[in-house]
Amino acid sequence: MRGKKRIGFIPTMGAFHEGHLSLVQAAQRESDYQVVSLFVNPLQFGPTEDFALYPRDLSRDRAWAEQSGIDLLFIPRAGEIVPTDIDTVVSVPLLSRRWEGVSRPCHFQGVATIVAKLFQIVKPDIAYFGQKDYQQVAVIRQLVRDLYFDLKIRVMPTVRDKDGLAKSSRNLLLSSNDRVAATVLYRALCHVRQSVRNGEKNSLLLKKEVELILRQEKRARLDYVALCHPRTLEPVNRIEGKTILLLAVRIGSVRLIDNITVG
Ligand code: PAJ
Repeated sequence: MRGKKRIGFIPTMGAFHEGHLSLVQAAQRESDYQVVSLFVNPLQFGPTEDFALYPRDLSRDRAWAEQSGIDLLFIPRAGEIVPTDIDTVVSVPLLSRRWEGVSRPCHFQGVATIVAKLFQIVKPDIAYFGQKDYQQVAVIRQLVRDLYFDLKIRVMPTVRDKDGLAKSSRNLLLSSNDRVAATVLYRALCHVRQSVRNGEKNSLLLKKEVELILRQEKRARLDYVALCHPRTLEPVNRIEGKTILLLAVRIGSVRLIDNITVG
C-alpha cells in the first residue's frame, strides 16, 4: 500500500539500556512511527525465577522513552493483557525444547504468547529484536511464519559494555564483584571464536575450552554451552560453516546468556 505509514515495534520488559536503544534507532531509520512496549511478562518466568526481582523503574523508563524520540510507549496492564482467565497459548515446541528450554521449560511459550498478543494489538510492519536472545529470535521467526503475521523481523547485533559484557536489564542485579566476574562469558566466547579461526573444528573440544575458562572464575557456574546450527539450533559436532555458540552462566544468583557466531 503506497503512502501507508510503517509501524516499527520494539517489545521490551523495560529497564532500558543501550541494547534497547539500538533497536529503537534501527526502527527510527526504517519506519515512520515507533512503538515500544514495556511489560514484564509473568508468563515467561518459571515459578522459581526472578519475576519479582526483575528490575523495574517506570519513571526512569518513561523519561528514557521520551528522550529517545519514539512515538508511543505502550505499557499494558497485567490484568488486561494476561487476564486470569486466559486460556490460549502459543507454543513453538521444537525450537523451544533445547538450551534455554531445558532450564526454563515454559519460557518460550510465555514469550511466544505475549509477542503474538502484542503483534495483534500493535499491528507492526517491522518488529525489532536483539541477537543477544538468539533462541528467542528463532522462536519468533517461526511463530511469524507459522501464524502468517504480516510483518518483517529485524535482528540487531548485541550491544556490549566496554569490557564485552552484553547489555542486559539483569546486569543491574549483579553485585560489583559479580559484575567483574560476568566478563567471563564474553571472554569464553571470544576464546572459542579464536580457536575456530586457528582451525579447531571439534565441538566437544571447543566446549571443553569454555568449561576450563569458566572453572577459573569461582563465582561462575556453567548452565550450558552449545555449538549449533544457526537456524535449527540443533547441535553440530564439527564446525563446517556458520555456527552459533550459545552460552548460559549463573553468576551468583543471576543467570546470564550470550552468544556469538563462529565459523
Ligand atoms: P527484553 O529483555 O527487555 O529485551 C527486549 C529486546 O531487546 C529483545 O529483542 C532483546 O533481544 C533486545 N536486547 C536485549 N539486550 C540487548 C543487547 N545487549 N543488544 C541488543 N539487543 C538487546 O526480550 C525480552 O525483553 C522479552 O522476552 C520480550 C521479547 C519483550 C517478550 O516479553
